[in-house]
Amino acid sequence: SSVAPEKSKSRPGEKKGFVEEMRFVAMKLHTRDQSKEGEKEADVQPVGQWKPSIPGYIKFLVDSKKVYDTMETIVEKASHPSSDEYFRNTGLERSARLAKDLEWFASQGHEIPEAGPDGITYANLLTELSESDVPAFICHFYNVYFAHSAGGRFIGKQVAQQILDGRELEFYKWDGELSELLGAVKVNLNKVAEEWTREQKDHCLKETENSFKYSGKILRLIVS
Ligand code: HEM
Repeated sequence: SSVAPEKSKSRPGEKKGFVEEMRFVAMKLHTRDQSKEGEKEADVQPVGQWKPSIPGYIKFLVDSKKVYDTMETIVEKASHPSSDEYFRNTGLERSARLAKDLEWFASQGHEIPEAGPDGITYANLLTELSESDVPAFICHFYNVYFAHSAGGRFIGKQVAQQILDGRELEFYKWDGELSELLGAVKVNLNKVAEEWTREQKDHCLKETENSFKYSGKILRLIVS
């Protein structure tokens, strides 16, 4: 027809599946110093200039663990068995590995604090969304695991070189080929989103900003 309604306008990445739509929105939310696909102004303190400290990095790991513990508990006891089964035992789980890393820091004489407000706030949001708003929850699920496999690894390497004598933490290791693990999860994310209306998809995409907001706060703990 001559008047194409807004609703039928195609979204970037749409043809390749919903994960590609989520990726497109996420990449634009990066700052230019974070990724060449980023569209946000460069940070006052670009990641290349971060001066991490061990206590700050430990706080980041502790709050990250709070988030992954929560995420992994949610999918483990999920109340929507048909789709949530897709997200169990993906091989992307980080909780057990973070526990090992924190044990190692403790064995080196470092104090391991309780989770702080950034981790707790995000964990509470995830629990809430998993019960009330599955598309928004799925947005966080995607960003939490995929961001860590991309920029997260890059940051980890940089921090390791600066303050850990290059030691590679468990947080940055996966059993098996990471690209294959991610690929399998992508297939399932696409399947779940195929059941959604365009409104639900757009609502999920919109949540990407929150994902950056909450994860960004936790990342900043590295330089706290
Ligand atoms: C991808 C860097 C923070 C979500 C990427 C990529 C880079 C990057 C370079 C591209 C990887 C590729 O195309 O292969 C960074 C840096 C960050 C940061 C340096 C902070 C200092 C974040 C945050 C989130 C996020 C806070 C969301 C919570 C993503 C997602 C992708 C991505 C979803 C796509 C991954 C994929 O294609 O599989 N990041 N990022 N990033 N980032 Fe970030």
